[in-house]
Amino acid sequence: MDDVKAYYVTTPIYYVNDAPHLGHAYTTVASDVLARWHRQRGERVWFLTGTDEHGQKILRTAEANGVTPQDWADRLVDESWRPLWEHLEISNDDFIRTTQQRHTDRVQEFVQDLYDKGEIYKGGYEGPYCVHCEEYKLPGELIDGEGEFAGQKLCAIHRKPVEILSEENYFFKLSEYGDKLLAHYAAHPDFIQPESARNEVVNFVRQGLQDLSISRSTFDWGVPVPWDPQHVIYVWVDALLNYATAVGYNENQEKFEATFPADVHLVGKDILRFHAVIWPAMLMAQGLPLPGKIAANGWLMVGGEKMSKSNLTGIKPQDLTSHFGVDAYRWYFLRAIAFGQDGSFSWEDFTARYTSELANDYGNLASRVAAMVGRYFDGALPEATADGEAEQAIREGLVKAVTEADHRIGDALDFQGGILAVFDFVKQVNGYLTEQEPWKVAKDPSPEARARLATILCTAAESLRAVAVLLNPLMPETSRKLWDSLGAEPSLGALADQRVQEAAEWGKLPAGSTITKGAVLFPRLEEKPTA
Ligand code: MSP
Repeated sequence: MDDVKAYYVTTPIYYVNDAPHLGHAYTTVASDVLARWHRQRGERVWFLTGTDEHGQKILRTAEANGVTPQDWADRLVDESWRPLWEHLEISNDDFIRTTQQRHTDRVQEFVQDLYDKGEIYKGGYEGPYCVHCEEYKLPGELIDGEGEFAGQKLCAIHRKPVEILSEENYFFKLSEYGDKLLAHYAAHPDFIQPESARNEVVNFVRQGLQDLSISRSTFDWGVPVPWDPQHVIYVWVDALLNYATAVGYNENQEKFEATFPADVHLVGKDILRFHAVIWPAMLMAQGLPLPGKIAANGWLMVGGEKMSKSNLTGIKPQDLTSHFGVDAYRWYFLRAIAFGQDGSFSWEDFTARYTSELANDYGNLASRVAAMVGRYFDGALPEATADGEAEQAIREGLVKAVTEADHRIGDALDFQGGILAVFDFVKQVNGYLTEQEPWKVAKDPSPEARARLATILCTAAESLRAVAVLLNPLMPETSRKLWDSLGAEPSLGALADQRVQEAAEWGKLPAGSTITKGAVLFPRLEEKPTA
């Protein structure tokens, strides 16, 4: 095993009560782009996703469908979750399921250890519980129901009635960790992103934390509490531990030390507190290191509400990929919405951006350059011998794009800013071709004009070489096509081995490279399918 700790990225592990929707895919694609970006920096990366399979929500869904919860989870994982991630080219290194023994054994050990250390005690609790959040709510977090729910208190996130639960169960002394957590947030200003998420958590913790009920005794779909098997471990404690159990906690010390803790946990803002309050407190109680960053993404909205399985208006990720293609899908949400902010999806917006930014700006640039090298130089990249100011400006533009994209995507998780930096460069190269008019230069047979023409097309091809590298983490299929069309592999090697931070080094694509027209990167869209 490598001595250097891996760059460790996680998605939330998703509930298997239903198939994945656009919201789940949003966080997963963002995590994938981050993981791929760091791999292309040359780092050793560990990228984890998986499924959260215990708890009342899954149990009730399985019961309603007349199957056991395990059968239900198996079916959903095999038929819906894994296939979608494969379809979207998600490059996870592992897939953890909370019903796997490698997880459940370690969860029991972790909780037993906390019990032995005196961090857990038995107590009673009564309060409003949202099964969709799998969380007890405070009275201030509820809203008044209207219409069919008039007179009832609703969860503000799910807009569904809460239930009053009264149980005797085990409690983790979370209230003792408030000051330590606040000190950690103060010492690590980047621990929670974005700023608005950080402020929300800090304010919440400042108000004082209650101890956390970590077991349930009214149903049994969960990991048994080791010292009192009448109880199962609270599904959130079980779930959060996946980030440790999947990388060898208490099992493979070498792997654990080479991976844990996560550098970034990507989560939706709905589950921020679990990750930024409860999870770090659990780790502190156990003397384990805390993650580097909790990055909260905003919500994809429909009609002013968080997109969920009940208000999806029937659009599945596959409906969009079959129309726009997988790469455009991976690009769209990260391009259109500032990461951390809420955003909504519309066919019109996706179509307009696809046509102008992907097909016209990027796709046309690639096909024009390949066509001209074919026409004027028989498809063999010529030598650039007549560099001038215009070429210098392109080289400078590329350096800027690489620096910006590397910082924004790789460090700041500003996917939109990073994508824009690359696409601004694409625009700059298009502008360069428009100004240099190689199709006119080609009409002049003089040696000087031939040298200019060669230089212009080399500059454009070299720019595309860099764009293929920079966009590979985001749009791997398109980058593969472009890499092929540029004939880059024989001289430069595999695309995945190209370092993003070295993408601005100029003159990499050698003269003589075989440029072919290749597949169209972004085909014209068919008519929008009717529902
Ligand atoms: N099982 C828990 C997570 C446990 S992690 C230790 C859970 N699962 S979930 O299936 O409900 O997935 C929630 C996550 O899916 C959100 O945190 C977010 O990352 C993503 N999204 C679900 N709906 C979303 C939107 N409408 N918009 C953006 N992201 C959303 O919570």
